[in-house]
Order: sequence, then C-alpha cells, then structure tokens
Amino acid sequence: MAKSSFTCQSCGAVHSKWSGRCEACGGWNTIAEEGAAPPLGAGATKRIKGRKFALEDLKTEDAAPPRRVTGLAEFDRVTGGGIVPGSAILIGGDPGVGKSTLILQALATYAARGGNAVYISGEEAMAQVRLRAARMGLSDSPVALGAATNVEDILATLESGKRPDIVAIDSIQTIWTGTMEAAPGTIAQVRTASFDLVRYAKASGAAVILVGHVTKEGQIAGPKQVEHLVDAVLYFEGERGHHFRVLRAVKNRFGPTDEIGVFEMTGKGLAEIANPSALFLGDRHSTSPGTAVFAGIEGTRPLLVEIQALVAAAGYGSPRRAVVGWDTGRLAMILAVLDARGGVGISASDVYLNVAGGLKVGEPAADLAAAAALISSFTGQPLPRETVFFGEISLSGDVRPAPQAELRLKEAAKLGFSTAVVPAGTKVDGAGLVLKPIGDVTDLAALIGAASPRRGRMTA
Ligand code: TYD
Ligand code: MG
Repeated sequence: MAKSSFTCQSCGAVHSKWSGRCEACGGWNTIAEEGAAPPLGAGATKRIKGRKFALEDLKTEDAAPPRRVTGLAEFDRVTGGGIVPGSAILIGGDPGVGKSTLILQALATYAARGGNAVYISGEEAMAQVRLRAARMGLSDSPVALGAATNVEDILATLESGKRPDIVAIDSIQTIWTGTMEAAPGTIAQVRTASFDLVRYAKASGAAVILVGHVTKEGQIAGPKQVEHLVDAVLYFEGERGHHFRVLRAVKNRFGPTDEIGVFEMTGKGLAEIANPSALFLGDRHSTSPGTAVFAGIEGTRPLLVEIQALVAAAGYGSPRRAVVGWDTGRLAMILAVLDARGGVGISASDVYLNVAGGLKVGEPAADLAAAAALISSFTGQPLPRETVFFGEISLSGDVRPAPQAELRLKEAAKLGFSTAVVPAGTKVDGAGLVLKPIGDVTDLAALIGAASPRRGRMTA
C-alpha cells in the first residue's frame, strides 16, 4: 500500500500529519488517515504510452439527443427541462429531508411513461424501498430495483442488461470500490466511486443521479470534489417543522441555476406545488406590525413571500441581529441606509428578520419589503394587509427598479392584493393594482408613517 495521508473528510484537503483541526476549512475532528488515493481514474503506476485522438472544431455535427423528461414537472423544471443523456447529477440534502422519496418518485413517474429507470439503494434494504413505494402508491411502477454498495458490482450489473436511461445511486456515501483499501464513506472512496459512475454515464449515455448527504455546515458531506465531477448539483432543502421542500440548482451545465421546484411532503410522498405563492402566504392572519409581503421572482416564476421583522430595544453590549432566510450582510446594509438616509434610527436596536415558511430569498428586490417590515415593527405601525413590496435599495437610499415588474404585479393581483409599493419609474400595467411609486427610503418611511409624514400616512 502507498504511504498513507491525512485527509479532511469535510473539505478534502490533504495534510501530512494528523491534527484536531483542518487548517483549510476550519473543521474540528474531520481529519482521518487514508491510504494515499491513486490519481483519478488510474490504478496504474507505470507509465503507459497514450493513444492519439483527433481534435475537432466546435460545430456540432449531430443534434443533441432529447432530454429525458421524468414527468415530475417540478423536478424537470430544476434540471432545465429534463435530464441530459450521459450527464451526472448530484442531489444533496440533509438526512431525512426526502431525497430518497424524491428520487424514487421521479424514477417511478419516468418508468411509468415508458423509460428504463434503475434505482440502486445502498442505504436501505429492498424491503424498505418497497415499503416506501407502497406507501407512495408506486408499487406497480416498472422501476428496476437493486440493493448494492460495491461500484464494480453495480457497473457490471448495469453494463450486462439493457442500457438504462436513468440510474439513481442512493447514496454515494455508501458506495465503495474494491480497488482501494479505504473504508466506505471516506473521501477517497466517494471520489473514486463517483468518478467511475460519472465515467459510466459519459460512456454509455445513461444519466446518473447521485444522492449525497449534506453536513451540518451545509456542504455535501466530504466530497466537495464530487461537485466538480458532475454536470449538475441540486440541493433539496426544507425547514424543520415545515412540510414543504424546495429543490434548487446550484450548478447546472445544461440549464439555468435560478429555477426552484417546490414540493409538499405528504403522507403519500411529495406533492408538486405548481403555485407556491398560495402555499407560502397560506396562513396569513396577522395584522400586527412587522410583516410585509415581497413580490419576488424565482427563476421564471413569480413567488410571493412574507417577510417578518422584529425590532426590540437592545440590552447591554452590541445589539443582536438574527436572520433566517436572508443575507446578514444585506440586513446590516438596509439598517445602515434606513438610519443614515431614511431618518429611522433602528441601528441600536436588536433586530430579527425572518422569511416566512423557511424559504431562502436572495433577490436584491426584497430590500424594500424587508425595509418596510423593519420600519413597521420599529414604529408599531402595521402595514396594510393587501399590499406587496418590491425594489432594490442602494447605499444612497434610492429605490431602484426591479426586473420583471409586470410578472410580480400579475401574481399579486391573482392572489388578491390591491396595492403595490414599487420603485419610482416602474412604468408597467399595474394589473389592476394601485401602484405607489417611491423614490427613496425617506419616501418609504413617510408612507408608513415613521418620519414626519410628508405625504400623509399610508392607508389600505
Ligand atoms: P427520505 O426520502 O427517506 O429522506 P432522505 O433520503 O433525504 O434521508 O424521507 C424521510 C422522511 O420523509 C421521513 O421523515 C418520512 C417522510 N415521508 C413522508 O412524510 N411521507 C412519505 O410518503 C414518505 C415516503 C416519507
Ligand atoms: Mg435516503
């Protein structure tokens, strides 16, 4: 065996000796001894003379083969309209979030439409997978099922029969190769097994889906390297205590990365949510200060979400900031701008900001809704229930236009909203909504009734 090395199981950094903390990623107790990994794809140590291959130009000669559409629409949307033949997809998520359920459902839907789908379970016994399928009402679906963990066995099986269209490996952390002494689940094993499976995908034209667990830090456990090997990385997310799940692309060589797929976990598997706004705004009763509805866009779909803020008097020391579903840096910026430009002195208070339903919002256009919720909580002045907000706030305090205003307004109108607070200069058909254009944060404060009301208080 080659000289052993010490590899961080979290980030994959290789160290010459063991230590309690990985200097590369800062993880504690993540370094484990491994036999030195052979270079990717090679077991050979002696020098081999290579074969020549022809170099070609960029013009495609043959049309791209059609994508494999599973029929699970929310899943297909995130992959960019179906899975590309010969590609490899990594699906990550916390244990228990529903990865196995999602994959089984996608494969079953695909197989029911006549596709050749194979599901290899490395974690659960056949009986357990069957039990799950029965619970989801998918027992009759012609998915080929196998329980295996050895990558050579899996490849031998896949190569012997009819070539599958889609193969799912659940999960990559349980798969091991006999060409290596390291234990299953170690970086070296996961990387080598993934590489073999990705190579199989490219060579055979089968699409391979790898399921991977995510560590508490939010990385796909261990093999950051696996993310480079695959064509697409999707994350399946969900907040504890909430039923809905969001599938999000973080990398996709064959499609956009801003589309999300929304599901609800039910007793019979995952239900697709074609209109997520209704779900995220579902139980809105409160007329208390500090909540504002943001008219957002996720990918090509409009999505309304409630942003909740609580501003409370700070105790001793520096004020507390806690954010769920939004960027901490962005909150700090909004607070500073409100303070410096809007005359709303929130900065010294404790501030809590929450995106309802456990959704993560990354759009800058959410600034205005967050600012409105903050001012509302700070002043104790509730915002009218039938109002949505969108617009980006700049450091100067100006409110800047947001893209796709019309789509946002249409969605708000559809869900029964009557008024929209929008950036000045938003020249679109209001879809029946009353538009209240504002130019900067001073206008916003005045509208809500925080600063000396220049234009009177906002009324519903
Ligand atoms: P699972 O797909 O096993 O999660 P993962 O593969 O990501 O670890 O899902 C596990 C959870 O989903 C479990 O807590 C039970 C729940 N569940 C349902 O609520 N309804 C269902 O129909 C199924 C199959 C699972
Ligand atoms: Mg699972």
